[in-house]
Amino acid sequence: MCGIVGYVGPKSTVDVLIGGLRRLEYRGYDSAGVSVISEGHLQTRKKAGKLVNLIGEIDSHPIPVSHIGIGHTRWATHGAPTDGNAHPHLGGTREKLSLIHNGIIENFSELKAELLAEGTRFASDTDSEVAAHLIAREYDKAGDLVVAFRTVVNRLHGAFTILVVHEDQPDVVLAARRNAPLVIGLGDGENFLGSDVAAFVEHTKRAISVGQDEIVILRAESVEIIGFDGKPVTSEEFTVDWDATAASKGGWPSFMAKEIADQPQAVADTLMGRVDSEGRVSIPEMDGLSAEDIKNIDRIIIVACGTASYAGDIAKYGIEKWSRIPVQVELSHEFRYRDPIVTKNTLIVAISQSGETMDTLMATRYARDLGAKVLAICNTQGATLARESDATIYTHAGPEVAVASTKALVAQITAGFLLGLYLAEVRGATPSSELQKLGRELLRLPAQVSEVIEGLDEAKALGAAMASAKSVLFLGRNVGFPVAMEGALKLKELAYIHAEGFAAGELKHGPIALIEEGQPVIVIVPSLRDEDSLHPKVISNIQEIRARGAKVIAIAEVGDTEVGQWSEHVIFVPETEQLFAAILTVIPLQAFAMALAEAKGLDVDQPRNLAKSVTVE
Ligand code: F6R
Repeated sequence: MCGIVGYVGPKSTVDVLIGGLRRLEYRGYDSAGVSVISEGHLQTRKKAGKLVNLIGEIDSHPIPVSHIGIGHTRWATHGAPTDGNAHPHLGGTREKLSLIHNGIIENFSELKAELLAEGTRFASDTDSEVAAHLIAREYDKAGDLVVAFRTVVNRLHGAFTILVVHEDQPDVVLAARRNAPLVIGLGDGENFLGSDVAAFVEHTKRAISVGQDEIVILRAESVEIIGFDGKPVTSEEFTVDWDATAASKGGWPSFMAKEIADQPQAVADTLMGRVDSEGRVSIPEMDGLSAEDIKNIDRIIIVACGTASYAGDIAKYGIEKWSRIPVQVELSHEFRYRDPIVTKNTLIVAISQSGETMDTLMATRYARDLGAKVLAICNTQGATLARESDATIYTHAGPEVAVASTKALVAQITAGFLLGLYLAEVRGATPSSELQKLGRELLRLPAQVSEVIEGLDEAKALGAAMASAKSVLFLGRNVGFPVAMEGALKLKELAYIHAEGFAAGELKHGPIALIEEGQPVIVIVPSLRDEDSLHPKVISNIQEIRARGAKVIAIAEVGDTEVGQWSEHVIFVPETEQLFAAILTVIPLQAFAMALAEAKGLDVDQPRNLAKSVTVE
């Protein structure tokens, strides 16, 4: 939440900052602002609303050339999304210092009272402005910006990435990080700061992920990192494994449309190097967990939020079935605060696209403190979650820009299944021949996902035709149940209409009361070939709701000759293993929600009230 960018170097700073903010806008779009130092003076422009408003403001009040500055795109926490509450915030009576902040300063009331008592006047309702005034005040006392900055960040509680520039030191950007992301981009005679690498990947692929409680002193020719205690810190450089074109629309009408189309690649890249042609699964990144550790696991707890939690729900079916390890899936925020049972033999699997979701980070920190091992499934290199875990399986979905998750989800499910097959093999829980058969089936998925994507027109047309629907229900069984919940979530967040996903078997226990004449219901139908005979049960469920007036859209496996008799529309997906069908059946639901939202004229990349990376609890 909130995107942060900083720059020192020879390029036009405003251009670098705006370019960075454009790529970070998915993190929040309530307001945007920049501060640069130009001809020895701070120049600040900020505006409520999307980045385009700030660009308009800069066009009408141009900024003279500058080589140092900071930029911010906001997801509002303290204070409404107004011009005044937009970042940057200026500090001190002489307003020589400018600050941007991502996170929440939990003790801001107490600090603000201290400043008010001294007569400080505030221009905004934000917690962030408090830090700007405190640093300006300390600098006036100490005369040393780094000392002043360090003194203040040590007084702040909560989560923050803070960047500061000061007129008196026109060659340096200072940054501090606690519980919120910050990455350095290393250039040649120029350096960058960003909430993630997207902020600067068009300029450099060399990056350093800043650790917890660290301060960065960034100049054009040097980068120094110290701890909040003032001691030097050494950090490892990494190379960003995607380029700027991966994070651009590339001719698609929206990032979401592009990211839906990217899904065959996301699945293929996540499988790459992890399944050989015989179907044997190996996950070299799991080396942080020895075979002994794996054999000792007596329970897996998957922690995640939102769409990532549905990936966990789906993975659970495979992990339990093949490895015979009990798996529970927990929403990170619920898990953390309910005194859960965690021992050293518990494996926590944390699933997160961003690797910065605060709820998930808090859950994993808590579990580690109780002695558990943590395995991350994460899409973002250098993310905090990956840094803080014993091992990380990266989902190679590439940058996901649209706020609603699509390709990261299918990559997370793929990684979850890989994990299940790997654990089963190490523990000898399922015959290798069976596991390899599943591994070979996994290898067919990218082509099958392509096939689904090529056939999305029907799902889109159905979505567009339903723009006036008040409510859509989703039903599924087995892995179809979390798929149904994901379908409902996509519709809520993109189209702002009521949607619910139910377990089809649960229908008669209450939700069937919702069915009335004309109610649209999307049903995820298990394969007709399914050995547990779930298919006839779901067909019965369809009949029950149709008898009460529901209009049914079924998502079913090709060759299902029965479902068409009981549904208004059927969208067919290719044949695959029963559990892997989750990956194929969720895609039409993404396209359906996107088309419905577009038909309502909504922005599918940046739905209202949301931000992509939820870095506050
Ligand atoms: C929904 C969506 C969210 C995220 C959730 C977790 O489309 O994107 O529900 O899945 O906020 O985010 P990550 O995966 O970054 O931890």
